[in-house]
Amino acid sequence: MTLEKRIEQKKDAVECELRRILSGNDSLLFQAMRYSVLSSGKRFRPLLLLAAGDYFHAARDQTLPFACALELIHNYSLIHDDLPSMDNDDYRRGQPSCHKAFGEDIALLAGDGLLTLAFELMAAAPSGNNLYACKEEAIREICRNAGVLGMIEGQLLDITQDPDHISEDRFKELILKKTGGLIIAAVVAGGILGEASPLELEALHAYGVNTGLAFQIRDDIQDSIQDRPEHRAPRPNSVNLYGFDKAEKKLGDSIQKALKALDSGSIDSDELRYLALRLSAVKGKNKNEQTS
Ligand code: IPE
Ligand code: IPE
Ligand code: MG
Repeated sequence: MTLEKRIEQKKDAVECELRRILSGNDSLLFQAMRYSVLSSGKRFRPLLLLAAGDYFHAARDQTLPFACALELIHNYSLIHDDLPSMDNDDYRRGQPSCHKAFGEDIALLAGDGLLTLAFELMAAAPSGNNLYACKEEAIREICRNAGVLGMIEGQLLDITQDPDHISEDRFKELILKKTGGLIIAAVVAGGILGEASPLELEALHAYGVNTGLAFQIRDDIQDSIQDRPEHRAPRPNSVNLYGFDKAEKKLGDSIQKALKALDSGSIDSDELRYLALRLSAVKGKNKNEQTS
């Protein structure tokens, strides 16, 4: 089977499981959660987790709940990120953002609901004979990277740092936490569930760091080449800090470092290489268009 087909099959498995998890309840809360999650996300974090998990022969019935949990956490973060008190974004994935469609009160609860559901999913994931410790460690890894010293602290920096006076080091910390957090968690948790060695986990972590940097730099470049609604809050971003050309160079360099990190742990995963390399394609992105 071709590499692209394998990735497509993984994405289909995630879509199908997300649909199942969010079905069977027609409350306004579930409608809002389905509206947000079952739109056209790229499922980048679940794909990373499943790629790392498969490489290390983790059981799919264990990795799939974790992959979906990460996608739920990601979607909660997007719903809250778009709120008027945060980035004040009216559109997400080609449709009105959750608070525009359901109101701020329901959007807040939908985010809360997705976050909580994610932890229920991980806690309920199968843990075969000697895998209980792996499951616990994978959950801890996700908590660390999504939590108060990870993604949430990244969001704090995003809204409190002056976009015109942020240092390069502070900016790197910001994007590593706000965006790198879940990307690092995805690959490392996949490795943990597959019982990767400490050296391999270190290499996966370095891959996650550099892929996370590349991911946000690319997002900033794409944002800079599309029309920006006036009312969106100003935030630190790579293009303002480095200029367009240097930001593009940093994107390329980060991807190369991600690939080198895999080599450093002798991790010969064509899927992880492909997922990092895919970030080099920068296209004009419009929030009013669907993502792919
Ligand atoms: C957008 O993430 C937010 C960032 C962290 C830059 P994605 O680009 O992964 O969004 P979806 O899930 O594919 O819509
Ligand atoms: C979103 O980052 C990061 C999180 C939700 C944690 P951005 O604000 O840069 O991403 P977009 O532009 O809203 O997708
Ligand atoms: Mg935003």
